[in-house]
Amino acid sequence: MTLRTAVVTGASAGIGEAFAEALARNGVGLVLVARRQELLERVANRLRDRYGVHVEVLAADLSEPAGRAVVTARLSDSDHPVDLLVNNAGAGSGRPNLLADQPPDHLDDTIALNVTALVQLTRAAVSAMRERRSGAVLNVASVAAFLPQPQGAVYAATKAFVTSFTETVHCEMRQFGVRVVAVCPGFTRRGDAAERGGMRSSPMPAFLWLDREAVVRDALAALAAGRVVSVPSARYRLLLGAARLLPRRALRRGFERLWAAPR
Ligand SMILES: NC(=O)c1ccc[n+]([C@@H]2O[C@H](COP(=O)([O-])OP(=O)(O)OC[C@H]3O[C@@H](n4cnc5c(N)ncnc54)[C@H](OP(=O)(O)O)[C@@H]3O)[C@@H](O)[C@H]2O)c1
Repeated sequence: MTLRTAVVTGASAGIGEAFAEALARNGVGLVLVARRQELLERVANRLRDRYGVHVEVLAADLSEPAGRAVVTARLSDSDHPVDLLVNNAGAGSGRPNLLADQPPDHLDDTIALNVTALVQLTRAAVSAMRERRSGAVLNVASVAAFLPQPQGAVYAATKAFVTSFTETVHCEMRQFGVRVVAVCPGFTRRGDAAERGGMRSSPMPAFLWLDREAVVRDALAALAAGRVVSVPSARYRLLLGAARLLPRRALRRGFERLWAAPR
């Protein structure tokens, strides 16, 4: 599959910015999506200067219908076809908290971005790609899709949705030559200064942190290899393999202890 143009959501920071950089390095033209225009312009200018690729910027809030409409219109534009959609923008679990203590609005926003936007953008993309019998969608899920995550219940459930949705759409679209892939990273360094400060005090062991560039390399390799659900890095594949061998009840007990809230 020849990639000429890719849409990357959440491209102004973190893993999305690394996707944009890797694609631009390979000569792929880009449409960058996020809410903050000035950050997007900064990334776009850097990529144009460094790699000489065409870069468009779409400032849009994907948790709102109007923002989603801007991006689905671009994906449906048959005069400027999109070969790859990277659905990367995603709300994190926010401040870790019990479901009972989460503000209802925050839960709505998480579902709107992680589920509604991903579904609507995927629909627009595969509908145009089916006509051309070519194209791909790469959905960024998380290892949280496979595990209970106390204090991140809605986040983990949205990521389980992403992997399930991706597998089924893959089955629907394969006959039309359209690839649909879910990538499920573990803890990944976003590469910003605030995070570097936070990581020094993080209780997570250092070996659990992945580099965003490595996650992106793995994701693009999974796409090229025709994999459908991919977990970047041998260490997370090993951990998930071990988790699958445990009785689910034991796994739940382990996670209850790991993420226990102070009483
Ligand atoms: N980092 C990890 O440890 C990790 C692990 C597993 C999975 N993931 C997944 O990987 C993806 C990227 O995560 P990340 O850690 O790289 O995130 P991040 O550093 O927080 O960056 C998020 C990006 O999404 C954009 N964004 C946020 N809300 C948006 C909205 N409503 N509409 C449009 N754009 C929006 C942000 O820009 P604006 O704020 O300007 O909109 C930014 O460009 C997410 O789907 C996340 O769930 C991350």
